Amino acid sequence: MLKLGVNIDHVATLRQARGISYPDPITAARICEQAGADSIVCHLREDRRHIQDRDVLALRKTITTRLNLEMSLNPEIIKITEKIKPDIATIVPERRQEITTEGGLDIVKHFKKISRTVHTLQGKGIAVSLFIAPIKQHIEQACKSGATIIELHTGAYAEAKSPLTQTKELKKILTATQYAHALGLKVSAGHGLHYNNTAAITQINGLEELNIGHSIISEAVFIGLENAVKNMLRIIKGKK
Ligand code: PXP
Repeated sequence: MLKLGVNIDHVATLRQARGISYPDPITAARICEQAGADSIVCHLREDRRHIQDRDVLALRKTITTRLNLEMSLNPEIIKITEKIKPDIATIVPERRQEITTEGGLDIVKHFKKISRTVHTLQGKGIAVSLFIAPIKQHIEQACKSGATIIELHTGAYAEAKSPLTQTKELKKILTATQYAHALGLKVSAGHGLHYNNTAAITQINGLEELNIGHSIISEAVFIGLENAVKNMLRIIKGKK
């Protein structure tokens, strides 16, 4: 059954806005797990704009499902990841000025560095996922790098301005999932998914996990985090 990873970065965004101790992302992770989330995702950005090093350490100790740590290819971040040993390390591109992760990895350009990092992390017993666009060549390179998981960037689908473009983007995710699956890769997907655009994605066979953050944390402001996670789980798992 399709799994849900909840990204809790924006709980820390709210805390950092005031520079105080709440809301606490560790408490948020516990509530998400109790509500039925299959994993907890966070991104230790180079500028530490939301999640801090101490958060990742505490999450590693307290999470009872799986910790999926998003990370860039920055040497300091790689060292921290090796030390923390998340269950999954998801390598993502990172630009300081961006509001959020804007695109997939340029795996063709950075193949050597990515491949080296995949092997370094796998050597520490960490499963590695690569965040890439649903493009055949990028999937082939991901497979060649030794990574066993890919996460398909659903941003173009989520931001499509017309139903026609959205259908085209959905088809790209479907084709990419089938292709990656045939190559033996585990496939997850995420970015920009919310309560109205996730159902269509759940129809894609072969997808293992959806990683969703901003929409769930936003909904939690109105209905509470437990309910926000449960409502997304209903869409993903098709339960009442
Ligand atoms: N997956 C990856 C690799 C991401 O970088 C992000 C954004 O942090 C997400 C999923 C979640 O995206 P959103 O917050 O738009 O749901």
